[in-house]
Amino acid sequence: MGIIVVNTKAYKEGMGKNAVKLAKIMEKVGNEYGINMAIAVQPTDVAIVAKNTSIDVFCQHIDAIDYGSYTGWISPYAVKEAGAKGSLINHSEHRMKIEDISKAIKIAKKIGLEIIACASNVDVTKAIACLNPDYVAVEPPELIGGDISVTKAKPSIVKNAVSTVKKINSEVKVLCGAGIKSGEDVAKAIELGTVGVLVASGVVKAKNKEKVLEEMAKAIK
Ligand code: G3P
Repeated sequence: MGIIVVNTKAYKEGMGKNAVKLAKIMEKVGNEYGINMAIAVQPTDVAIVAKNTSIDVFCQHIDAIDYGSYTGWISPYAVKEAGAKGSLINHSEHRMKIEDISKAIKIAKKIGLEIIACASNVDVTKAIACLNPDYVAVEPPELIGGDISVTKAKPSIVKNAVSTVKKINSEVKVLCGAGIKSGEDVAKAIELGTVGVLVASGVVKAKNKEKVLEEMAKAIK
């Protein structure tokens, strides 16, 4: 089944009550179209969104730490206990060292959190696929937040990411993101071999979020 992952970043439109509202719209559209929907929210919003909706909630980041003296870091254990299904890690806006990506994935596996690890290009996608996350999301940083989608501007990156991951670790599912705005972008992402998209501004900043999500869900179907 295809998946739409919406990253709310630190947008006002996707924070606190607005995160819950958006998750509820995603839940409705996901049920209507039989599409998996997941929302990656601020750590502080994990609990409230998980409590109020049935879609999968991901924390926007976790740190590669165990229990202990780690003031101010984001504990995978706390995130799990708050109701998260998983975590997005290594986003271009919050990059991690490879050692920490590896450790975070190991801890996540141990406690039953799914991981979507971001990669800025095909080489990084390759490296991350070796670490065995559940998903790798390829997102060229220069296209993030823009109006031209990765599927239009750089389809070869998506295609190569998919074929590379297949060769290295076929268990890892591939998503793509950056500039995804329309059903057409989502359809192209699927055509290029991904299982879905990671999208932020195209949904979070949209006036009519339900309409955009419906269009994307139709395209995945
Ligand atoms: O995590 C998704 C994000 O980086 C893509 O952002 O606004 O281009 O959809 P956007």
